[in-house]
Amino acid sequence: MSDLDAAWRRLRAAGAAAAARSISGLFDGEPDRLDRLTVEAAGLYLDLSKQPWSAKDVAMALDLARAADVEGARARLFGGAAVNGSEGRAALHMALRAPDGADFHALGEPVSAEVEATRKAVFDFARAVGSGERRGATGRPIRALVHIGIGGSDFGPRLVWEALRAPAPAIELRFVANVDPAEIAQALAGLDPAETLVIVVSKTFTTQETMANAVIARDWLRQGLGEGADSHLVAVSTALDKAQAFGVPADQIFGFRDWVGGRYSVWSSVGLSCAIALGPDVFKALLAGGAAMDAHFLEAPLEANAPVMLALAHVFNRNAMDRPVRAVVPYAQRLRLLSNFLQQLEMESNGKRTRADGRPVTQATATAVFGDAGTNVQHAFFQLMHQGTDVIPADILAVRNSADGHADSQRKLLANALAQAEALMVGRSEAEVRAALRADGLDQAQIDVLAPQKTFPGDRPSSFILMEALTPQVLGALIALYEHKTFVEGVLWGVNSFDQWGVELGKTLAGRILQDLEGGEARLHDPSTAALIERLKG
Ligand code: F6P
Repeated sequence: MSDLDAAWRRLRAAGAAAAARSISGLFDGEPDRLDRLTVEAAGLYLDLSKQPWSAKDVAMALDLARAADVEGARARLFGGAAVNGSEGRAALHMALRAPDGADFHALGEPVSAEVEATRKAVFDFARAVGSGERRGATGRPIRALVHIGIGGSDFGPRLVWEALRAPAPAIELRFVANVDPAEIAQALAGLDPAETLVIVVSKTFTTQETMANAVIARDWLRQGLGEGADSHLVAVSTALDKAQAFGVPADQIFGFRDWVGGRYSVWSSVGLSCAIALGPDVFKALLAGGAAMDAHFLEAPLEANAPVMLALAHVFNRNAMDRPVRAVVPYAQRLRLLSNFLQQLEMESNGKRTRADGRPVTQATATAVFGDAGTNVQHAFFQLMHQGTDVIPADILAVRNSADGHADSQRKLLANALAQAEALMVGRSEAEVRAALRADGLDQAQIDVLAPQKTFPGDRPSSFILMEALTPQVLGALIALYEHKTFVEGVLWGVNSFDQWGVELGKTLAGRILQDLEGGEARLHDPSTAALIERLKG
């Protein structure tokens, strides 16, 4: 048996013992637990002490990381090797956020000079639009941006904008992802084409949803502006020729390379709309935060490495404790889109049953991620989190200082974050509940019925991420933390975290069914699909 198989076997076996003991009890037996299981990195304080692992389990998880050669994989990632084997590509999003003067290579080819040149072009354009130097076709300043893109061309910029935007921004930024006409109708409503830039963001410039929306927006510009309309079109893509053919002026097309994965692309020109609407300095600070997390990931020893330790905690839950779902709950309204972002980052990266070498995986892979902002979720799914039949580990995030004033509300928000994490772990014993009911004067029969219902089992794990303030740097570090965490998990499971073949079949079938709906010759479908097609055609 290989060292890796043995390490997996030991880790999995540790799950039964972990399930049989209490997390709170671990603090008694491990006086150094908090010290060992908290990591500070790039402005983030990560507390993994409310996880079900003992000191011995943590050591086992670290052995697993060594047996899987996480450090070697990390060196290949940063060295620009073909870590995306099925597409023969590097994955070098770190090059995009590295300071000027860096020297990254993708498959041996130097890339940093081109990154710097593109970054400069993005910032120059952002500055010109923001300052009013670059105006619309009729001479009016630009007051709104419509960012059209989906998946990786949407989630990152949308998250960054919602996290960092001013309550009443000078330049409004609206996003359109869905091919559902409702979204573009709402995005364009009330905007004046003379004061609006349409930014089409698509790595491939072929994605059905994005191109359908881009055509609608282009028509809207042309109807409103006639001749000058195309000067309001901007594109971000690796397919420069396709963007130009669409009508985008060449000097308004911003490129990036195929070694930037869609879900890792917010640092590239894909962030253009944020660079304009938030300003280049804010975007630079975001990049600097990502770079700070890169440096930490590269340099910190495994046991004090935030992305590695977060990955191991999640893997312990997934593979030792058989927990297939994880909740992500930021106690920060500005981070409410984090779970959407992580759904793509983690589930598209690691939702795979075949290893990078073509063999079946030997462990369960990515967890399903869901979540929303606290405290709202306390009035939604937290009932299940506390007393449901399944244990759902959580990532709980909180920000000490709000940029939005109202310190009293902020303290209430923080109190709720801490309370939920504590309640999940500590629970409330039946004996305690019985004593309280007795003190309230209930009779024994009532107590027997009520006490079990009011009991909280506890031992529901969480990771806690605390930030001083949601600055652009801290946000950059947070996104990079999850990117690297996802990479480490991919290494442990042996999957390629940078391809996404699982999204292709649906796209192909949608193309065929669209033809069927448009009256083309009906193809063979399963009976259920055929009936639905007929119903929609009728
Ligand atoms: O969901 C599939 C996917 O290929 C993602 O990986 C990608 O982020 C998204 O579609 C959008 O692709 P594009 O940027 O090429 O329009």
